[in-house]
Amino acid sequence: MKISVIGCGYLGAVHAASMAQLGHDVVGVDVDVAKVEALASGSAPIFEPGLEDLLRAGAASGRLAFSTDAAAVRGARVHFVAVGTPQRRGENAADLTYVDAAVEGLLPHLRPGDLVVGKSTVPVGTAARLQARLDEAGSGATLAWNPEFLREGFAVQDTISPDRLVYGVPPGRRGEEARALLDEVYADAIGRDTPLIVTDFATAELVKVAANAFLATKISFINAMAEIADAAGGDVTALADAIGHDARIGRRFLNAGIGFGGGCLPKDIRAFAARAEELGRGESTAFLKEVDAINLRRRQQMVDMVVESLGGVVYQKKVAVLGLAFKPESDDVRDSPALDVAVRLNGLGAHVVATDPAAIPNSLRMHPQLGFATDTLDALRGADAVVLVTEWPEYRALDPVAVGGLVSAKLVLDGRNVLDAGAWRAAGWTYRGMGRP
Ligand SMILES: NC(=O)c1ccc[n+]([C@@H]2O[C@H](COP(=O)([O-])OP(=O)(O)OC[C@H]3O[C@@H](n4cnc5c(N)ncnc54)[C@H](O)[C@@H]3O)[C@@H](O)[C@H]2O)c1
Repeated sequence: MKISVIGCGYLGAVHAASMAQLGHDVVGVDVDVAKVEALASGSAPIFEPGLEDLLRAGAASGRLAFSTDAAAVRGARVHFVAVGTPQRRGENAADLTYVDAAVEGLLPHLRPGDLVVGKSTVPVGTAARLQARLDEAGSGATLAWNPEFLREGFAVQDTISPDRLVYGVPPGRRGEEARALLDEVYADAIGRDTPLIVTDFATAELVKVAANAFLATKISFINAMAEIADAAGGDVTALADAIGHDARIGRRFLNAGIGFGGGCLPKDIRAFAARAEELGRGESTAFLKEVDAINLRRRQQMVDMVVESLGGVVYQKKVAVLGLAFKPESDDVRDSPALDVAVRLNGLGAHVVATDPAAIPNSLRMHPQLGFATDTLDALRGADAVVLVTEWPEYRALDPVAVGGLVSAKLVLDGRNVLDAGAWRAAGWTYRGMGRP
């Protein structure tokens, strides 16, 4: 099938490349010239495992092209909208400027029977408004909402083999046609009996924000337990293991630490709460404000722990910060707790040397005042404290004996509770986790 993808960022670039991999004929359109040039030359503008291979394979097959020209979508039957929906400046609500612009940009090129498919995460009600816009413009096109659940770091795998598909479609014949087209797009996953939920626009939009609200709540729940464990002298890791054995609770997403970040969870729970207030149901999502507050204060608690461990003063102390990305296997530093901790320590006068396997360029652009080292061992050399804030496998695998010889003081603060406290202590380190004795 001939497909267009509007917006080629973390979601769109992977979607375009994966759809080509599945045999579709794909054109990706983005307004960012540098991004399009990189993608067209087979080089990934973001760090996402497997993406570059798909870009090269797509280019070689002749089934994957990128353009800055909106007219390049002509001839495609299905048009995915994957542009950003960031938090509005100074507000909690989502900024729909890019979604609206993408749909307006599509209008002159649509043919009757085309399907416009929203992938971006939007406030409930957006799809109905956009379908009305397509109708009012006489496009003859149908809209569907097909929320995306990919996880950065696993985006290619999640796109090619999603754990479920959700189609929000209009009622009646249009909905049936939309479903048939989406089934054709996702024939590979459907053929593997991937769970499929076909529903109305509002439910499809809500599924995405509800999923993110639930995940955020799970993380903030265990972080709240970590705060109590800290005060009471308990161990939140053992607590998470113990409650996680209950299948109704589950162990995943119960890792206490400095909390969640990234380009989705924080802004999505805020936008959800803002939309609920518009709908007169602010009380239904009031808990999300608490989820957000717990999450945000974890960063300062980490900083406080560093300050306290260094005897109350970090000024001119060398602090090695391991990790900048909001999660491992990503270069994404949008609302990253790791980068935030580095920035706060730097603001207190610490001599921060931060490192990350993928996220230094993005961090440097945003915070050139920080010190960076591309090599982990360089970051550790002479450090008065080592602060682990993104759980990259290479940091988890550090040998406490070997790196003990590099630092000035054997003090390690584990903002992700992923190090083996016993092994580090046995190697002579002072180990502190979050919510662990
Ligand atoms: N990143 C994720 O893991 C993820 C997962 C699920 C859902 N989402 C949702 O997907 C959407 C996109 O997220 P992202 O992380 O890819 O954002 P992003 O900022 O990486 O990408 C958005 C892209 O859209 C482009 N763009 C903006 N306006 C455009 C226009 N009018 N025409 C063409 N291109 C345009 C931008 O240049 C940018 O490259 C958001 O709504 C997000 O919440 C993201």
